[in-house]
This record gives sequence, C-alpha cells and structure tokens, in this order.
Amino acid sequence: MRVVILGSGRGSNAEALLAAQQEGRLGDARVVQIFSDRAAAPILALGPRFGVPAQFLDPGPFKTKFDDAGEERYIEAVRKSAADLVVLAGFMRILKPSFMEAFPQGIINLHPSLLPSFPGLDAIGQAWRRGVKITGCTVHRVTSEVDGGPIIDQAVVQVTSEDTLATVEAKVHAAEHLLLPAVVARLSKQ
Ligand code: GAR
Repeated sequence: MRVVILGSGRGSNAEALLAAQQEGRLGDARVVQIFSDRAAAPILALGPRFGVPAQFLDPGPFKTKFDDAGEERYIEAVRKSAADLVVLAGFMRILKPSFMEAFPQGIINLHPSLLPSFPGLDAIGQAWRRGVKITGCTVHRVTSEVDGGPIIDQAVVQVTSEDTLATVEAKVHAAEHLLLPAVVARLSKQ
C-alpha cells in the first residue's frame, strides 16, 4: 500500500510512520512521498533522513484552504505518486469535496482529541480549558465535514491533577505516535 503524507508542521507523526516502517511495524504500507504546504516546515527534513521524496507544493494564496490552482497541483502530484492512501498528518488546510472525490481510495486524518469532542483548531487547548479528565486522539476518514468523517480508531489519555497543558500535549502526541502507525498498518492488511 503506497502512502502519501501531507503535513504542514513539525512532522512528528510523519516521523512516527517512517520509524515504524524502518522497524517493520507498518504492515504492507510504504511511505512513498511527503508533501508540505509550507516551504519551511520541519516535516520536509524527514525526506533526506528517511530516503523519501519530500517536497513543498504551493497551496495558493489562502491560509486555510487551497485555491483552484493549488488544489489541482496537489491532486496531480498525489495522483502521480500513485497513492493507495493519503494520510493527513498535521495538514492544516480544509479540503473541498473535489479533493476527496479525486482519491476515493481514501484519505485519513489524525486529530488530537477524542472526536466528536473538540474539532477544529487547538483541540488539546480546547480540551484542557474545558477541564476534561479524559482526552486523546482520533484517526478518521476524511469527508467534507471538518473533523467529522467516520472514526477508524482512537487512543485515550488520562488527565490528572498533576498535569499541565504542556504535559497533556506531550501525552496526546505520544498517543498519536502509536495510534497512527498502528492504524496505517491495519489498513494495509485490509
Ligand atoms: C498533531 O497533533 C495532529 O493531531 C494535529 O496537528 C499535529 C501535527 O503534529 N492535527 C490537527 O490538529 C488537525 N486538525 P506533527 O506535525 O508533529 O505530526
């Protein structure tokens, strides 16, 4: 199963996928390409480190969505890499139905809360400020409803009286780094 990763930032979840692949924990999945909508995103440095092509692709002038030309650039590039699965690993743009229609084989997204709680931006901060005692992360299929597609799997994180926002963030990220590779490995066997 050929996996293409789209990411905008740090790339710790892309790194978790690549490390899992190196360690033989990614099932029949293989990361074949990384694309980022930010030229300076640290995720792009994973390419040379792991021997995977990693490339900035111009998304167009908007901050949170593609313009038509940007969308076309992404659709064409992802098609060219013959993706069987597109993984959004911290890709901070809302995709239009036309993008989803281009990849009926599937797009999945990682979100740092137990959806349907706390969709949207700053999910960990939202959960922290709400005072939840249990939070976590979710991998779900991407549909045109933001953070609303069918849930594939979730991991739970306990919030204790010792926690700070920073420690909850660290726990959620650690849970993500286990959940995402496990889900991709499972999907590769289906
Ligand atoms: C992750 O926590 C992911 O769940 C979140 O961005 C972070 C990316 O980190 N995604 C969203 O909030 C999407 N709504 P990374 O760049 O280190 O993988």
